[in-house]
Amino acid sequence: MRFIRTNDYAAMSRKAANIIASQVILKPDSVLGLATGSTPIGTYDELVRMVNAGDLDLSGVHTANLDEYVGLTHDHDQSYHYFMNEHLFSRVGLDLSRTNVPDGVAADPAAECARYDKLIQDLGGVDLQLLGLGHNGHIGFNEPQDDFPKGTHLVDLTESTINANSRLFEKKEDVPRQALTMGIGTIMAARKILVVVNGAGKAAIVKEAFCGPVTPQVPASILQFHPDVTIVGDAEAFSQLPF
Ligand code: F6R
Repeated sequence: MRFIRTNDYAAMSRKAANIIASQVILKPDSVLGLATGSTPIGTYDELVRMVNAGDLDLSGVHTANLDEYVGLTHDHDQSYHYFMNEHLFSRVGLDLSRTNVPDGVAADPAAECARYDKLIQDLGGVDLQLLGLGHNGHIGFNEPQDDFPKGTHLVDLTESTINANSRLFEKKEDVPRQALTMGIGTIMAARKILVVVNGAGKAAIVKEAFCGPVTPQVPASILQFHPDVTIVGDAEAFSQLPF
């Protein structure tokens, strides 16, 4: 694992965007695995800046997002489809047919999960997967549990995730109860993985996930077994690392 320590969120975002840009410059038809959440927003802003400056061309990439809520239409402002359009796709004029997010309103979620795994396989696999890190070590919607789920699958959200998300919805009843997420196997199959972490709130889980034992109770710990992982973090998120 490669740890890249940066001073602050802006520097973390620039470094992560540079790594993604170098991937796309060297392989313009890369398949990029993308994440939502607050951490990668600055990275997406930086990619948009590079595209606008003429330093980066994203028109040849395909993208595959990690996850999506069940029951939210693509135009719902809390859906991950909407998030990706807002933060990246529409801002760089990416042809939406080259972008992929699990379909949370598919009539048959199991069939949608199978379709999504096959789609990634048919694209030739993910070249670079961007990940954020949950406070409990989750990646995608793979929460702490007794085993490492393999493929894309349907998950019941935990009460704590539902409560945490309820701030973004008018009523708690509106908060989705389920999501579709790439599995740990799907994530581990990516050729390269880039994790972004910032803030003191992530310091303990960064240490536990990347320096502690590999266990499905800390899903991100499995990344210790991946041959090409880069973790870009700010000084606060790295403050408990022993090096
Ligand atoms: C996002 C995702 C989540 C987030 C994680 C960290 O698609 O799958 O695993 O990466 O919850 O979220 P933030 O960045 O908001 O701390």
